[in-house]
Amino acid sequence: MTTPRLVRTRTQLAEALDAAPGTGARARRAVVMTMGALHEGHLALVRAARERADQVVVTIFVNPLQFGPSEDLDRYPRDLEGDLALLAGAGADVVFAPGVEEMYPAGDPVVRVSAGALGERLEGAHRPGHFDGVLTVVLKLMHLVRPDVALFGQKDAQQLMAVRGMVADLDVPVEVVAVETVRDEDGVALSSRNAYLDAEQRRAARALNRSLRAAQAAAEDGAPADEVRRAAADVLGSEPGVVVDYVALVDDTATDVPADRTGRAVLAVAARVGSTRLIDNVVLTLEGR
Ligand code: PAJ
Repeated sequence: MTTPRLVRTRTQLAEALDAAPGTGARARRAVVMTMGALHEGHLALVRAARERADQVVVTIFVNPLQFGPSEDLDRYPRDLEGDLALLAGAGADVVFAPGVEEMYPAGDPVVRVSAGALGERLEGAHRPGHFDGVLTVVLKLMHLVRPDVALFGQKDAQQLMAVRGMVADLDVPVEVVAVETVRDEDGVALSSRNAYLDAEQRRAARALNRSLRAAQAAAEDGAPADEVRRAAADVLGSEPGVVVDYVALVDDTATDVPADRTGRAVLAVAARVGSTRLIDNVVLTLEGR
């Protein structure tokens, strides 16, 4: 267990990448991009990175570009000390934690990556510009880190779709690897935003995972797409502590699947518990009856 090297500027990063273990002509470099306030979900990505690469770089940056004006940018949890301690145990070599001025020295960038229509669906409908902000920082970090492989969580299914779309459409030379969602014992997907929930809200938040399991059971029973979606909607809609934003059954472009769809689909849910917005999803195989 070695303490990762913490760097704050792009110059320091470039130096650290050259000096870090696993450097060499055929060495593979992995990146895990985060906004900090790390938990076991993030660490699962770091461990998966460790298995795939000689050099593991973790980025910690709360990216203002992906927060809406009424969102939680200011109160987003920050704990660099705690993050570094966790990363030492998970096997990171370099931690890049730039300030906002380092990432956006000229202020808000004029040129941005657009997530296109994908960026306007589901999460994008509730958070205009969010995925453009995500893709812009992800591409910048890829240019700064130059990874062979980048790991993203299935937890943020639409973000993963957007990143895969960008990598394919813009020929970004990196392999994207998805890592399964890590959950607490009560089924709630780990999220830095869970810290906002009180005990009663936490109990209500379990309905998200319950709704996913209902959809999964329906799909395994051979139910068609609309019934699978309804199974999830019924469960989530019957929990008084949550306000449902959407329950959607979508393809890899976040587009609703037709009723007769068979094969792979993603059941994605978003709901507000108090003032906290939570998302979750499950990948399903639709057999169709
Ligand atoms: P953040 O929310 O910190 O998440 C960083 C990475 O951890 C993402 O790939 C996310 O999907 C993954 N992750 C979060 N919770 C997880 C869980 N319970 N199980 C598995 N993986 C999980 O996503 C972002 O930051 C930002 O948008 C970022 C990509 C860093 C760009 O700013």
